[in-house]
Amino acid sequence: MVRNRQPMQDQPAEMATPQLRNKLKHAQSLLAGAERPVHFSGAGLSAESGVSTFRDPATGGQWQKHDPMALASPQGFAADAELVMDWYGHRRRQIAAAEPNHAHCALAGHATMSHITQNVDNLLQRAGASNVLQLHGSITADRCHNNCGYVAGVDMHDPPGVRKCPECGSSRLRPSVVWFGEGLPQDVWQRAEQLCQQCDVLLVVGTSAVVYPAAGLINIAHDAGAAIILVNTQPSEASHVADCELLGPAGEIVPAVLGC
Ligand code: OAD
Ligand code: ZN
Repeated sequence: MVRNRQPMQDQPAEMATPQLRNKLKHAQSLLAGAERPVHFSGAGLSAESGVSTFRDPATGGQWQKHDPMALASPQGFAADAELVMDWYGHRRRQIAAAEPNHAHCALAGHATMSHITQNVDNLLQRAGASNVLQLHGSITADRCHNNCGYVAGVDMHDPPGVRKCPECGSSRLRPSVVWFGEGLPQDVWQRAEQLCQQCDVLLVVGTSAVVYPAAGLINIAHDAGAAIILVNTQPSEASHVADCELLGPAGEIVPAVLGC
């Protein structure tokens, strides 16, 4: 089930401008010739599904309303675990109520596209994509904060509060995501880096490209000679490396670029 968006025949006026049409054709031709296309996304991919972004005030930008260090860092969790779990509870309920949008579905339906995302919402997987490299983990599970190895899925409709790890009993459970100040999962990062070194086209969707090391993947692909296609509602920190920058909502632009 895909959340509604405007059907393609009701494209916004901008989609019909000659400039955007030319850019779409350029992006389509880059992708048509690609043997190893890779997509890399951020919160903007899920914005039209109703999932808040972090830095875009137009789409619920969480870090404009809340201090990221209080809600998404080991220090924040040590200071007030209940506040952290409450905020994650809110996000979990929001994601549970969301459906993949047309951009998720277009990406998931592409035959040869590899997927790298900063998103923790699993909407791409729910749209049918497999082998998604989740750089920042997944919000759908909790794990032991002391890394004893305990991981368990959570009820996204009725998310848990603060509780002890049932395995080691010595630590609390926390969302299985990467927080500020923490390292990315090494195996996932290495595979993402390799994909970006070897891809011929990188389709970047809905990221402000300010959080590293994730945003560095765009430079890695660019330096390795890949064509960079950007889809975003506004220019981003990656605009200067774009071979083709398409400004507009992902739910309309991505299916148009991928020809579906
Ligand atoms: P941001 O919130 O920083 O950026 C979202 C981007 O999506 C912005 O550039 C918006 O312009 C764009 N956008 C909004 N709606 C869009 C739409 N409908 N179509 C296309 N683009 C749209 O989110 P990320 O770049 O994902 O990290 O942020 C990176 C990381 O910072 C996140 O993974 C998270 C956060 O702190 C962790 O939690 C570790
Ligand atoms: Zn434990």
